[in-house]
Amino acid sequence: MEFRTRLTEALDIKHPIVLAPMDYVSDASLAAAVSGAGGLGLIGGGYGDREWLIEQFDRVKPGSVGCGFITWALGKQPELLDIALERGPKAIFLSFGDPSPYVEKVRDAGVPLICQVHNVEQARRALDLGVDALSAQGAEAGGHGLGTRSTFTLVPEVADLISSISPQTLLLAAGGVGDGRGLAAALALGADGALVGTRFYATNEAAISRQAHATALRASGDDTVRSSVYDIVREKAWPTEYNGRVLRNDFVSRWHGHEPSLAATLGGAQEEFKSAVDNQDYTIANLIVGEVVGQINRILPAAQVVDQMIKEAGTRLTA
Ligand SMILES: Cc1cc2nc3c(=O)[nH]c(=O)nc-3n(C[C@H](O)[C@H](O)[C@H](O)COP(=O)(O)O)c2cc1C
Repeated sequence: MEFRTRLTEALDIKHPIVLAPMDYVSDASLAAAVSGAGGLGLIGGGYGDREWLIEQFDRVKPGSVGCGFITWALGKQPELLDIALERGPKAIFLSFGDPSPYVEKVRDAGVPLICQVHNVEQARRALDLGVDALSAQGAEAGGHGLGTRSTFTLVPEVADLISSISPQTLLLAAGGVGDGRGLAAALALGADGALVGTRFYATNEAAISRQAHATALRASGDDTVRSSVYDIVREKAWPTEYNGRVLRNDFVSRWHGHEPSLAATLGGAQEEFKSAVDNQDYTIANLIVGEVVGQINRILPAAQVVDQMIKEAGTRLTA
């Protein structure tokens, strides 16, 4: 089974499935596994760890994977984009901030640029910059975003915007795509492919502990919440409009809604958090997953996730 879409043609991949650049989770092993299965793997440039990034590119076949950056963090180390571009990435993916300082450099390198957007206004701005693809992310997604729009309405609205003002631009649907039903829905809503995070988090190749995987498998989508408490405790300088979807646990229950008190007692909470991370205690440590976690019952090899998604989407769309 194969879906040829504008995305598979433009990026010369077999399947319209893109691995989300999930910071340290999307390392060389996971990105290579998704690309090897016919999708597009993106290394997670995240907050910007130079040595880690170089190591990941050294571990993959040149030209086989792309790389994502958190745009506001890239502003502090813009040379990381050069490091990625020198290694011939298959695409660059920018999220959470103004991509304009980087568009020309990526274009001059001849590398496709994908920008993640969370509402129509951000989509319009990215289209004005002439980016090659948008990833329209709904609030059900794991990780950060604006948290204001759902994938189900954002994707078709952005698809309509693209067809009216920039028909050559590609569109990915992000947030809530965890199986073939989700992929079929994404394509039916007007996307050219799907950006998948949480489902690939629950794979053998993801750089995630067994303990985190076991906790994720027990969770329902109801157990997730959008919150800023881990940004506060980790002292990550996220712009105030962004928050992130995580699993609700004791730490989140204690501090969510009481962020000023958390900021005021930071030292103690940080010690507790760091020790929980070291001990893999996910009643306190952060587990970043989207609502789709409730549809995931097994940790699988990434290639099997890709195959199953494609087969199931095919059945749904041809039934
Ligand atoms: C563990 C985790 C880490 C993430 N880290 C990043 C990141 O560093 N940069 C980024 O652009 N998006 C990040 N995201 C969000 C993804 O880009 C994507 O929008 C999201 O995973 C899609 O929704 P889903 O989780 O329902 O598949 C992360 C998501 C998860 C689950």
